Amino acid sequence: MKEKEFDKNHLWHPFTQALTADDPLCIVKGKGPFLFDEKGKKYIDLISSWWVTCHGHAHPKLAQAIYKQAKTLEQVIFAGFTHLPAIHLCQKLLKYLPKDLTRFFFSDNGSTAIEVALKMAYQYFYNQNQKEKKIFLHFEGGYHGDTFGAMAVGRSSDYYKPFEDLFFETFAVPFPETWDLDENVEEKEAHSLRVLENYLTHNKNKIVAFIMEVQIQGAAGMKIGRALFYKKLHALLRAHNILIIYDEVMTGFYRTGTFFSFDKIGLSPDFLCLSKALSGGCLPLSLTITSEKIFEAFLNPSVDKAFLHGHSFTANPLGCAAAMASLEIFEQKNYSSKIKNLEITHKKKMLELFKTGLIHKTAVIGTIARFELKNSSAEKLTLLKKQAQEKGIILRPLKGVIYLMPPYVISKKDLSFSYDILKELIENLV
Ligand SMILES: Cc1ncc(COP(=O)(O)O)c(C=O)c1O
Repeated sequence: MKEKEFDKNHLWHPFTQALTADDPLCIVKGKGPFLFDEKGKKYIDLISSWWVTCHGHAHPKLAQAIYKQAKTLEQVIFAGFTHLPAIHLCQKLLKYLPKDLTRFFFSDNGSTAIEVALKMAYQYFYNQNQKEKKIFLHFEGGYHGDTFGAMAVGRSSDYYKPFEDLFFETFAVPFPETWDLDENVEEKEAHSLRVLENYLTHNKNKIVAFIMEVQIQGAAGMKIGRALFYKKLHALLRAHNILIIYDEVMTGFYRTGTFFSFDKIGLSPDFLCLSKALSGGCLPLSLTITSEKIFEAFLNPSVDKAFLHGHSFTANPLGCAAAMASLEIFEQKNYSSKIKNLEITHKKKMLELFKTGLIHKTAVIGTIARFELKNSSAEKLTLLKKQAQEKGIILRPLKGVIYLMPPYVISKKDLSFSYDILKELIENLV
């Protein structure tokens, strides 16, 4: 039978208005911090391919680990069965975790890691007959993924209007975003805590958990919150016995400078959600990690009390093998100083850009840098993105914000070059 020709425009791309979007760029190869299109043109991947690529593209150690695992065991059902790649991975992760995070539940993307945490937190109380606990707390603008539960707690992120009527009850606390030279940060933080405390006073018994991104809200526009604020927030939630869910889907594995972003807060949540760089950013894999206290509430002779949730690819061995290899890379000597150097380059080059007088609200946290144009507009940002792409730099401005979030293997030279190009383009934007 003659093969029908497939029209590439029949691919339905995520987060894309097909009517107005430019044709997608067809990428055929990746190497380190670079991507290459069909014509061989090279681009610096300043968005780490949707914030996942940490060790760079097509890393030989990751490729080798996946290949080796694929020849041994590529997939097996994870209910009633287990396998060594999953066991070894969790064993290895233990040393990075607070001592009470000891129970590991796998799934296969960030949204499902969140969905699992939300469902577990809810069922934790349900199993103990506390059925009045139905409300989740979250930050305004927070983003936790695109499944229904994750959307409900990300409802104020402006992505989910059509689905609003289907969401469960939540309460959004103002997020005290800050940036370099921000003079009002303490006021904003105090306001957030006041709003939360007031809500807790009246609704404490109805609340399941507070879910939050840690130190930075990604999809909201790389909005940064101070570690000190998170410490106070954590203490307030603990004082009211509210479960805490840390969404480190984006921030885990050195994105914000430390291994986990909450390392800077120094406190332990009830649930930790990981994905993106968990597998070295190359295969869909995620984890929801929780404590014995939570786990024990699911132990009962009745199967109904168990956590009846799973995915076909739960704990896929290839993903686990990639994750193991990724952790081995992170464990190479002086790894954290590489991250520190990346931060130093960001800060130095950001200052140069700031001195143009054309940008403001700058901030750098670990491997992420963000700023806004003083005279910004949607048209300008679209033009900037287009022009940067022509110059070989992949950007994805987000809610008026320009950010640089490269794979960690980017050289000082390539990162500085990216800033230089941006500076030139911004100076020439009319
Ligand atoms: C903080 C955060 N949580 C959850 C998610 C959802 O992850 P995924 O896109 O893998 O479903 C994302 C995705 O960007 C994220 O940034």
